[in-house]
Amino acid sequence: KQQSNEFPKDFLWGASTSAYQVEGAWNEDGKGKSTQDVLTPPPHTTDFKVTSDFYHHMKDDVKLMAEMGLKSYRFSVAWSRIIPAGRGKVNPKGVEFYSKLIDELLKYDIEPIVTMFHFDLPLDLAQEGGWSNRSIVTDFKNYAKVLFEAYGDRVKYWLTINEQNMMVLHGDLLGTATTNGLKATYQQNHHMLLAQAEAMILCHQMLPHAKIAPAPNIVCVYPASDKAEDNLAASNWRSLRNWLYLDAGVKGTFNPVVYAYLKKRDALPDIADGDMEILKAGRPDFIAFNYYNSSTAALEPVASKLMRDDFTAEKDFFYEVGNNNFDVSPFGVAIDPLGLRITLREIYDRYRLPLMVTENGVGLKDTVDENGEVDDQDRIDYYRQHVQAMHEAIEDGVELLGYSPWSALDLVSTHEGFRKRYGFIFINRSDSDLKDLRRIPKKSFYWYQKLIKNNGGIT
Ligand code: BG6
Repeated sequence: KQQSNEFPKDFLWGASTSAYQVEGAWNEDGKGKSTQDVLTPPPHTTDFKVTSDFYHHMKDDVKLMAEMGLKSYRFSVAWSRIIPAGRGKVNPKGVEFYSKLIDELLKYDIEPIVTMFHFDLPLDLAQEGGWSNRSIVTDFKNYAKVLFEAYGDRVKYWLTINEQNMMVLHGDLLGTATTNGLKATYQQNHHMLLAQAEAMILCHQMLPHAKIAPAPNIVCVYPASDKAEDNLAASNWRSLRNWLYLDAGVKGTFNPVVYAYLKKRDALPDIADGDMEILKAGRPDFIAFNYYNSSTAALEPVASKLMRDDFTAEKDFFYEVGNNNFDVSPFGVAIDPLGLRITLREIYDRYRLPLMVTENGVGLKDTVDENGEVDDQDRIDYYRQHVQAMHEAIEDGVELLGYSPWSALDLVSTHEGFRKRYGFIFINRSDSDLKDLRRIPKKSFYWYQKLIKNNGGIT
């Protein structure tokens, strides 16, 4: 189908990664351990020790990104590379690595978009209780100060905490869970919100020209039927899944539906005097969010063709269920580009701040064919539809700054290793065999290159 979608002139066509999933060099140049370094990987996957070895391939990988035509690259900084124990002494070599990366990106006019925290907590802090321990708010603020001092002269776009909502709702899969019950989980959430607000306040004080944003994972939620009860369940799930984080992160308020839900379960976090003022003072300049799929909710459980292990449910509140209207990825994820258009409109309508899609993509079982090429047409189809949806949302009036699909290059999935790949660039290794770690641009690499060249307007 002919597509002639021009995007805004300065639209940031990018791609994303996170430190622990791509860098490797887990114990090199003074890096401290993070929670991810000591996780036992699920069977038949791999650990995070070598991953894509970006740490040692940085210059060549950035060169490939430049060849792809990227206008931006969203990466995360490993806290334990900068401050090995999470608190205290700064590691100059760690600071230098990201400094060099930023310089390399700027050499090719690629805008760095820096995530301050993406699932990899310094192990020393984790052993003191991690996000459960209120002192982490100060630790995060001090870490933010080091980042702003070191990179603030070159980095305009900052993201605070990646997918805080996934850490709260799926901590078991991400190595961030607390097992002490609902109140403890939401206490962690409260500390993350405070840490984020402190970072936003500091960013505005230290770097008046920079822009900072939260980066939750947002889904489009549908009711499972036309029953009012299911619509109520969808509304409940939307509040618990999406709005809690943005209401607090953007407006500094506690989402009322979630407040009532936690109160009923005796799980409200302890909120100290002055905390709500801190949340109110921490204002983002834009909203970043990751979008992969939509979700469907019913008030009573219903069987469906697709049932995922990670479906969430709360009796008398909502049950997440499958939805037969969508195609499903090889890993059971509902593919819903129209849901992205709806989500962009919903967020913009609610908060009226510029938006940025900081992750979007599909995990596939890519392989190299006999000609040495990787034909990932399904990924191209996925992206084409999502780019179309973003264009339509812009036509609907949404202010959209950029798009950073997941991921720039193959990396280790959060819990499914290398058998589930997301990159535009293939990394020649498997879960069990490091092989030669060669980089092979996939078919989607050349498709995205053309898309960027035409600023979104291609066939
Ligand atoms: C997002 C995360 O949830 O989705 C990434 O920010 C993650 O870290 C990506 O890799 C894809 O999820 P998964 O579980 O397939 O790796």
